[in-house]
Amino acid sequence: MSKGTVMRRHFVLVALVIEINLYIAEGDARHQQDSSANNLPVELNGPDGKNEEVLDGPIKEVLAQTGGTATLPCRLTDPGAGIVTWIRRKDRQLLTVGAATHSVDTRFVIRPSTSDWALLIRGVTLQDAGVYECQVATHPVQQNFARLKITEAYSLIPGAPDLHVKQGSSLRLECQLMLATEPPVYVFWYRQGRMINYDAEPGVKVEATKTGSILIVNKTKPSHGGNYTCAPSNARSAYVVVHVIEEEEKPAAMHGGDRRNLSPAILASNFLVSLLATVSWRIPSFTSLYPT
Ligand SMILES: *[C@@H]1O[C@H](CO)[C@@H](O)[C@H](O)[C@H]1NC(C)=O
Ligand SMILES: *[C@@H]1O[C@H](CO)[C@@H](O)[C@H](O)[C@H]1NC(C)=O
Repeated sequence: MSKGTVMRRHFVLVALVIEINLYIAEGDARHQQDSSANNLPVELNGPDGKNEEVLDGPIKEVLAQTGGTATLPCRLTDPGAGIVTWIRRKDRQLLTVGAATHSVDTRFVIRPSTSDWALLIRGVTLQDAGVYECQVATHPVQQNFARLKITEAYSLIPGAPDLHVKQGSSLRLECQLMLATEPPVYVFWYRQGRMINYDAEPGVKVEATKTGSILIVNKTKPSHGGNYTCAPSNARSAYVVVHVIEEEEKPAAMHGGDRRNLSPAILASNFLVSLLATVSWRIPSFTSLYPT
């Protein structure tokens, strides 16, 4: 028998033991999940029928955005004691055995280290939400739970849906990512459905920020008006319709309301439409995404 065959049989054996273990424990676990997320430790029945204390900590909450990568930590007291396996609780699917992906779904990848065998789930979908478990089949069994929550990132352009800018003044559009757990790979800007990031038009500039993108037009021309859409790689897009107020037109006619009584300072401020707003990724506990 080759070494590979021996290893394979070993894996299959471990997988079998775990599935039996899970089958017996399923009732307990479901009850525990329903009643409370944090009332640990619970007891699960081992394969030999004896009760064993199996959890050494609370469920770790992990947040990931759709399309992104989730990193589920596996904090075991002695992960070197045996083969680490990851299981999805809702269907008892065995995901990884040791450093190998066991599931047919290759989005599940193990990141082995001496202290933490984190599970990476790539291209996260809403269906990936739920409880995951890593364990080492030692005596007593070492187990660790992580609950994955999924967010759907979206973008926001302050000033949307309609923005008025005077011809010749500067225009600044900011695309902010909301509920994102990862920065975007790119943010495309479209004007009237045409992508303008790489236009190299004089006086028009696109700047990437850590949380989105900024589009600046130095001297707005009538041709700069239209529907601007920002489309981040990993979030729902947003749009704003820019109306350029042409010079010969009276401002009072454009913006609604009577402006004759406004002070020069307020009128001057209207020349610059600035949409800067504080940006924050609304992540409850960002640090929890990146176990040390
Ligand atoms: C816009 O104007 C600013 C200052 O007026 C200048 O520094 C910048 O280079 C200009 N940007 C473009 C793209 O022309
Ligand atoms: C602007 O463009 C976006 C994307 O093409 C579209 O979904 C949206 O309906 C448009 N808005 C208006 C007001 O035309």
